[in-house]
Amino acid sequence: MTEQIQKVMLADKKHFPIGLGTWHMGDDRNKRPLELEALRTGIEQGATIIDTAEMYGEGNAEKLVGEAIQPFDRESLFLISKIYPWNASLKALPQHLDKSLERLGTDYLDLYLLHWTGDIPLAETVAAMEDAKKAGKIRHWGVSNFDVSDMEELWQIPDGKNCATNEVLYNLGSRGIDFDLLPWMREKQLPLIAYSPIAQGDSLGNDFTKNPVLKEIARAHDCSIFQVLLAWTLRGGDTIAIPQSSNKKHVLDNIAAASLTLTNEEWQAIETAFPKPDHKQPLAVL
Ligand SMILES: NC(=O)c1ccc[n+]([C@@H]2O[C@H](COP(=O)([O-])OP(=O)(O)OC[C@H]3O[C@@H](n4cnc5c(N)ncnc54)[C@H](OP(=O)(O)O)[C@@H]3O)[C@@H](O)[C@H]2O)c1
Repeated sequence: MTEQIQKVMLADKKHFPIGLGTWHMGDDRNKRPLELEALRTGIEQGATIIDTAEMYGEGNAEKLVGEAIQPFDRESLFLISKIYPWNASLKALPQHLDKSLERLGTDYLDLYLLHWTGDIPLAETVAAMEDAKKAGKIRHWGVSNFDVSDMEELWQIPDGKNCATNEVLYNLGSRGIDFDLLPWMREKQLPLIAYSPIAQGDSLGNDFTKNPVLKEIARAHDCSIFQVLLAWTLRGGDTIAIPQSSNKKHVLDNIAAASLTLTNEEWQAIETAFPKPDHKQPLAVL
């Protein structure tokens, strides 16, 4: 992980660049044992960044994470949660933050994100985030699903530059941010959190598993196409990817993807098959 991420986002701690997503988890009691096993396996193997949100199962995913982390030292983890935009006011944010903390069974978040832009003035949300930081309930705050114009607005607001990250959709089939948002963030030394980094296991319609370039690279490295996709999101060195999995084997595969080293020819072949956009694209969101 680059010094940049440690400096800007993770401060004193060093975390592995592949975290654990939790969307669609925690809703089904029958799946709970496998979900707990998947999350705990990930943490044991060093995936200590966990991404959740009050939205996921309306608190169910936070409760699952709260249960999963019980055996672990809280200080070793980096917990991310997100607030709905309509809750991100000076009055409501502290109440919603407290509820998230209660569900997670912790007294602080490492990172609290505004889930997407909303009607509450951004300056008010920033002030509420800064208050929560002063109260010791969050270590950092950031945003999610912000495009360049949203980031520029944020940068004009008092304390707006205290934003620690922007979490956006980023995978080989959805790389619009390579045109403008990612260069903007790099210039500001703002790390990226890439969500849906494996395109929801190919269900976003890209059909990566049939792509001959990816198939050949996966074959050469004796790995899966999903591992190649993850390695691609991490290639810049200033990105954290947060794949979601309820399957212990997939979690281990995802972690191993951080060690995948492709040749220059392979990177070039991917670039040719999935070229960087040459014009502005609307920010892709899920
Ligand atoms: N900020 C936002 O607005 C936002 C939006 C979307 C997502 N997110 C965050 O990002 C996380 C990840 O995104 P996502 O859940 O949309 O999609 P994703 O991580 O790209 O894909 C998840 C899917 O891929 C499968 N999978 C995971 N690892 C695999 C592997 N190694 N091989 C084969 N299949 C694999 C999972 O199934 P198995 O369980 O069978 O492994 C699951 O169906 C979310 O969980 C959430 O925390 C944030």
